[in-house]
Amino acid sequence: MHTQVGIIGAGPAGLLLGHLLHLKGIDSVILESRSREYVIDRVRAGVLEQFTADLMTEMGVGARLQREGMRHDGVFLSFAGRRHYVPLAELTGGKAIYVYGQNEVVKDLIEARVATGRPLHFEVEDVSVYDIDSTSPRVRYAANGKQEELTCDFIAGCDGFHGICRPTIEKAARFYDKTYPFGWLGILAEAAPSSEALVYTYHECGFSLFSMRSPKITRLYFQVPPDEDINQWPDEAIWDEMLKRMTTHDGWKPNVGAILNKGVTAMRSFVTEPMSAGRLYLAGDAAHIVPPTGAKGLNLAAFDVLHLGRAIAAFYSSGKTDLLDQYSDTALKRVWRAQRFSWWMTQTLHRFPDENPFDYKRQLTDLDYIVSSRAALTSLAENYVGLPVDAAL
Ligand code: FAD
Ligand code: DHB
Repeated sequence: MHTQVGIIGAGPAGLLLGHLLHLKGIDSVILESRSREYVIDRVRAGVLEQFTADLMTEMGVGARLQREGMRHDGVFLSFAGRRHYVPLAELTGGKAIYVYGQNEVVKDLIEARVATGRPLHFEVEDVSVYDIDSTSPRVRYAANGKQEELTCDFIAGCDGFHGICRPTIEKAARFYDKTYPFGWLGILAEAAPSSEALVYTYHECGFSLFSMRSPKITRLYFQVPPDEDINQWPDEAIWDEMLKRMTTHDGWKPNVGAILNKGVTAMRSFVTEPMSAGRLYLAGDAAHIVPPTGAKGLNLAAFDVLHLGRAIAAFYSSGKTDLLDQYSDTALKRVWRAQRFSWWMTQTLHRFPDENPFDYKRQLTDLDYIVSSRAALTSLAENYVGLPVDAAL
């Protein structure tokens, strides 16, 4: 079997890339190790930057996002018992964020892929890549108990942080890594959101975040130790902790409801440099991860594949490899900006086990400065909605 681009992983990066290539008339095969249901049901990101929402619309896969996604013109920063509104759109010339679950994004992209009739194989096993330094790299995998081999012009490693592509280029790459001494316990609750905007809270007991998925579903997180066992948290204890951290002096708090899903996520910053070797190109979490505090991971994946798709299309139309050669540098520039912002949001809003009273006062003062300075608020806002992208499809 031969295809122009072998795409490993059907998360947001792999599915978006497959559709971008389809729009340029380039064929691809997408290989995914999990089942379709598992990929759709996985509860993860919720916030799309303006750029990501616009990209989906331009690609013709944004109709449901336009209908059901919730545009947010601002977010709250909450500390010392008070919520402070950050007017994102006002500070950034009209840019906003869109609350639309990653599982909805993935569902829309799978539907679009299926409609193109191009191959998307779930539940494949033992995926491995070969000959990436040649002009016909190969992917081997097993499907329905049968061994398969795919020869490609290019391979896109979109297989997330625990995939097989990044280890393949281990010898040629350098890794930058930072782990944080905490994780997030997250829940989905059957409760109407009690605030129109997200609320990022810095509390003496630790960080918490109020978000949502729909007019009936609230999404909440709070900081816990990184190896916290979710089974140690009965629903009642989760609500007690959420309410303790989130309730403000004016009485605002989240609505309580049945917990539909709960889990703990560790926090890490990680970058691979360069993001390619030979004809294997990494994109999304396969190349880099950020702590979720800045809501950047999925958005970075979208930026990567936009540029990778353009570079591959330029190769087929002109034979030139300059955009492919620049891909890693172009992506990494934005990756590092997002790393810096995500690290900054994380270290400003969380309690650290080794901190001292000086650090606590410094963090509070940082937050107090941000909400009282238009310059500081603007800096936060322009990073949060996403820095400008020079991006025509
Ligand atoms: P993934 O979504 O990890 O997809 C990779 C795919 O590859 C998976 O389907 C996996 O099953 C498959 N795969 C793995 N190994 C193989 C293999 N060997 N063969 C074949 N397939 C394989 N980002 C935001 O932008 N905004 C947010 O608000 C936000 N909030 C978050 C909240 C939480 C709690 C978490 C955990 C993450 C959040 N993120 C957020 C980050 C975001 O979810 C990720 O950055 C995003 O999923 C990256 O997409 P991806 O396609 O690169 O990787
Ligand atoms: C959500 C997740 C985030 O990481 C974030 O910063 C904001 C919102 C969410 O799941 O809704």
